[in-house]
This record gives sequence, structure tokens and C-alpha cells, in this order.
Amino acid sequence: MAEAFPATSMPDRDWWAALWPDPRAVLEALGILPGMTVLDLCCGDGYFTAPLAELVAGKVYALDLDEAMIEMAKAEVARQGASVRKWIRADARDIAAHLTEKVDYVLMANTFHGVPDQPGLAGAVHSVLVPGGLFAIINWEARPREETTVLGRPRGPKTEMRMAPAEVTAIVETRGFKSQAVIELPPYHYGIVFQTL
Ligand SMILES: C[S@@+](CC[C@H](N)C(=O)[O-])C[C@H]1O[C@@H](n2cnc3c(N)ncnc32)[C@H](O)[C@@H]1O
Repeated sequence: MAEAFPATSMPDRDWWAALWPDPRAVLEALGILPGMTVLDLCCGDGYFTAPLAELVAGKVYALDLDEAMIEMAKAEVARQGASVRKWIRADARDIAAHLTEKVDYVLMANTFHGVPDQPGLAGAVHSVLVPGGLFAIINWEARPREETTVLGRPRGPKTEMRMAPAEVTAIVETRGFKSQAVIELPPYHYGIVFQTL
């Protein structure tokens, strides 16, 4: 059944933009290259989707469960003069049913912490990747929430929902992936890039 993951609502743009002043640099740090076909899984309001679409010249699939997020993301992509191959309003767990081709890269930013069946989600991602394809997870660091302040207030998921990189790696590696790199994304995030075996 399509259902939003707990604790994954889209942050307000004011503090999100303050926290991530250069989203394209984040995408590049995660090894996303021009020429790749990329799925932005749980794209939200398009904060990363728009620079991603620009980086890979429109070879982007963008999925979110929330129609309002898709509409905001569409507007953001258009505002930045970019384009997306296909917008998908669906549950992330059902991605395989909505893609007509396999992709080189799946990005899941700021959402994995709330997924109830994380191994199952990793398996669903694996099924839409080409052999040797990449899966990147951006997560909040496993620090007390009161320490991760932006614009003067604590932000991000509850402390008890946060995951250390080793915990994420142990889960995702049960579904046919191998961790390739853990990348610090200061001030409060890390990214892990996995490759299919
Ligand atoms: C915290 S936001 C992150 C958005 C974006 N990735 C970013 O980092 O700016 C999480 C997004 O996941 C979406 N979402 C939550 N549960 C979902 C599900 N089961 N399937 C697809 N999208 C979902 C929400 O609608 C929301 O837009």
C-alpha cells in the first residue's frame, strides 16, 4: 500500500537552502557524471532534482509519493531551465513498475532513515539498476538533534532515527551492493555510494 515513510516531510526552503548552499557540488561529490541516467528517489520539491537535471542534461527520472511535491519540483526544474525525462508519482517501493529502462544511478537523499523496510527498499533499488550501477544514500549524521542547528534551531529527524554509516552499509550490503565510498557532506550529513555486485 502506498504510504509516506515516517519523518520524511520536505523541509522548508529557507533553512534547507542555508544548509545546502551548493546542491550541484553535492551531486558531483557523490560521483554523478554527465551522461548517466539517474533516478531521484523521493525527490521532494526538487531542490536536488533541478541541478541534477542540469548536470545530466535531462536524463533524470524523479519520483515522489506526494503530488504537491512533484508539482513544486516540476516548477523548480523549469525555473532553472532544465528538464526531466519522466515524473513519477508513486511509492518508492514500487519503482520497478514505473521505469521502462534500467538506470545508472539512484539517489535517495534525506529519506532512508524513515523507511520501515530498509533491506526491501535496497532490493527494489537494485532491481532498477544496470549491472555495476550506483546507489547513493544521503543521511543526517547520527548526532543528537539539538546539535544540528540551522538558522538557530535544531533540524532534522529525531536523534533515535538517525543512522551511522556502518549501520546503513550493513543493511544495504545484504541486497547485492558493496559500499564504494563514504563521503562527508558538512556540516551535518554524509553520503554513501554503493555499487551493485
Ligand atoms: C525529507 S524529503 C527529501 C526530499 C529530497 N530528496 C531532498 O533531499 O531535498 C522526503 C520526501 O520523500 C517523500 N516520500 C515519503 N514517503 C515516500 C514513499 N513511500 N514513496 C515515495 N516518496 C516518499 C516525501 O513526500 C518527501 O518529498
